[in-house]
Amino acid sequence: MTEEAPTARLPYALLPWQRRVKVDPHRFRVVAAGRRSGKTVLGVDELVQGAAQVPGSVNWLIGQTYGAVKDIAWALLMQYIAPFRPHGRIEKTVESDLLVKWTNGSVIQLKGADKPDSLRGVKLSRLVIDEYAIMKREIWDEVLQPATSDSKAPVLFLSTPAGYNHFYDVYAMEQRNSSDWKSFHVKASEAGIIPPEELVRARRDMDPRVFAQEYEANFTTFGGQVFTDFSRERHVPASPIPFLVNAEYVCGMDFGWSAPTVVLFANIDAQENVTVFAEYVKRETPIPVIGLGIKNMVPGRAPSLIACDPAGSAKSEAAGLDSISELRAIFGWPVVRYNTNHPGVIQDGVNVIRKWLRNGKLKVSKNCPQLIMALEMYRYPDPKDNVQSEVPLKDGISDHACDALRMLMSYRFPQRKTTVSSI
Ligand SMILES: Nc1ncnc2c1ncn2[C@@H]1O[C@H](COP(=O)(O)OP(=O)(O)OP(=O)(O)O)[C@@H](O)[C@H]1O
Ligand SMILES: [Mg+2]
Repeated sequence: MTEEAPTARLPYALLPWQRRVKVDPHRFRVVAAGRRSGKTVLGVDELVQGAAQVPGSVNWLIGQTYGAVKDIAWALLMQYIAPFRPHGRIEKTVESDLLVKWTNGSVIQLKGADKPDSLRGVKLSRLVIDEYAIMKREIWDEVLQPATSDSKAPVLFLSTPAGYNHFYDVYAMEQRNSSDWKSFHVKASEAGIIPPEELVRARRDMDPRVFAQEYEANFTTFGGQVFTDFSRERHVPASPIPFLVNAEYVCGMDFGWSAPTVVLFANIDAQENVTVFAEYVKRETPIPVIGLGIKNMVPGRAPSLIACDPAGSAKSEAAGLDSISELRAIFGWPVVRYNTNHPGVIQDGVNVIRKWLRNGKLKVSKNCPQLIMALEMYRYPDPKDNVQSEVPLKDGISDHACDALRMLMSYRFPQRKTTVSSI
């Protein structure tokens, strides 16, 4: 018997992103997609295709709870198998078990992750996991993965992200094993189901991090804020902070290329009050240009210290020179300094900043919007298996400015006996 191509007969057409995922040949496909982007529709389509095309196949969709799959996926499934009924392809449907039996011996079944015992001891031909980010990690690792191993069943993970948790781990698998894993990212705006004006409203009304996660399907963190003591009222004066002629003049710097290089400019007075009066944030900018930017910041004055990220001592392949040597050629050796790395160096630096924020001895000029935002946004990652990391998240947004401040503070106010570079 020749199997009929099921899509030709289905009562809907897939959206472009759904088609891209559907035709992808990788065994494990992971879709991070925004709310209302058509994840569940694609999941149910996958089951129908599997059951119709592979006789005797066992096709499962796991949702968060039995109730949730019954309400949404079961209704979709009944709709999508309807065109197969007149052709005698459906043997029976058992609503109490959320089960469809096909006359070719295939089975489709919907399950809830809230009943993990009902998921054990089966050999699957095809598996869809819908909203994995809000299930327990073990559902895949311990329960479902073994069920897909015998027959090397294809697996489709569909979810809106929920921080850097186990769904992020499967999303990142492509980087480790790109022959078996493929990841897709779908914003609600690209899916096209939510009207654009509703997206504009949501973006305006929601916390930007929640919007980024729920609609743009970004992995973002709601873990603890690192600098809880920081507040604009207390640390950012109403008028811009001027350069203090009689105080020490120093810079903190974090090197970048595709990520920006950040330079912070500060004064330190005799009482160790630190005032950051300017910032310089530039992408894809060579060190000599940055050097010029530093020289020109305060005409006629050069900083007495530029505290750098030790990573800047790595050789740049293109130039054959490392960034720190280049800066030293411009400013002189005693000026450009860095602390060597030691275990806990990040936590130490974070703690110095905290201490200065707490006793009100660190002020940031309103001319430094990137640093202000970074101090507010810098977060620890979400706890992983209930363990909270002590190292803040490198989110690519707030870590650079915070690192530049950390370089400056930990070099100038060392908390441990750190070794100073003598290269
Ligand atoms: N290919 C399609 N053609 C027409 N309508 C679609 C298609 N895909 C999804 N939809 C419609 O878009 C809406 C959202 O779809 P679906 O429930 O699959 O999205 P979701 O991403 O799972 O949403 P949620 O985040 O709420 O779980 C539903 O009304 C669904 O019928
Ligand atoms: Mg859904």
